[in-house]
Amino acid sequence: MTKDEYYTLISPYTDAMNTILTRLEILSHKAEEQDKPCPIHGITSRIKEKTSIEKKLRNHGFEESAEDARAQLHDIAGVRVICFFEYDICHLVKCMKKQSDLIIIKEKDYITTPKPNGYRSYHLIVGVPVYYMDGMEYYPVEIQFRTISMDFWAAMEHRICYKNQPFNELEMRNAFRQYSEILEKMEKSFEVYSENN
Ligand code: GTP
Ligand code: MG
Repeated sequence: MTKDEYYTLISPYTDAMNTILTRLEILSHKAEEQDKPCPIHGITSRIKEKTSIEKKLRNHGFEESAEDARAQLHDIAGVRVICFFEYDICHLVKCMKKQSDLIIIKEKDYITTPKPNGYRSYHLIVGVPVYYMDGMEYYPVEIQFRTISMDFWAAMEHRICYKNQPFNELEMRNAFRQYSEILEKMEKSFEVYSENN
């Protein structure tokens, strides 16, 4: 993939991602207007780098072309929404699903069913309509909803374990699974205080 092909590829994904960012901001403002606590602690977003796209395609046995990237990858555009509590995530996911022009491509609930290593997060891949002069096409955006504690865990685990092979892997994995449970309990106790306010 040439640089030019990469920039042409990512242009509509950037538009789709910006649409999602605006919609999340609107949901956040609505809560403020109604004097409700803001469900969102922070949002980050990224467009997958050229080298990461090529690496992922290569690893899955596809051609390192813009065409294969478009056909095979759902995470060229990614948004991460950091919430306070699980119920904030449920609420936001419900709100996004109600937006009838978006299509749900894939949904993974790693909160109800965490990954064996303890990873928790709610992944929603939505198709976002991008309009041109002469038509419309859907582009996927991967939205990861996490609480602060899930994000803390995932950031640490990503740095230490994910896609790497730490030499004491088994021990690390057991520890991380335990930390995930401890963090969940801690978050639930904060939730009790928050309800009393
Ligand atoms: P990727 O090829 O990594 O994109 O995974 P996938 O297509 O099988 O999808 P999945 O929903 O499992 O993961 C998508 C993204 O979620 C990853 O790129 C990470 O950002 C995040 N993720 C998934 N599993 C883990 C995990 O065990 N640890 C951490 N830190 N992040 C994870
Ligand atoms: Mg990914």
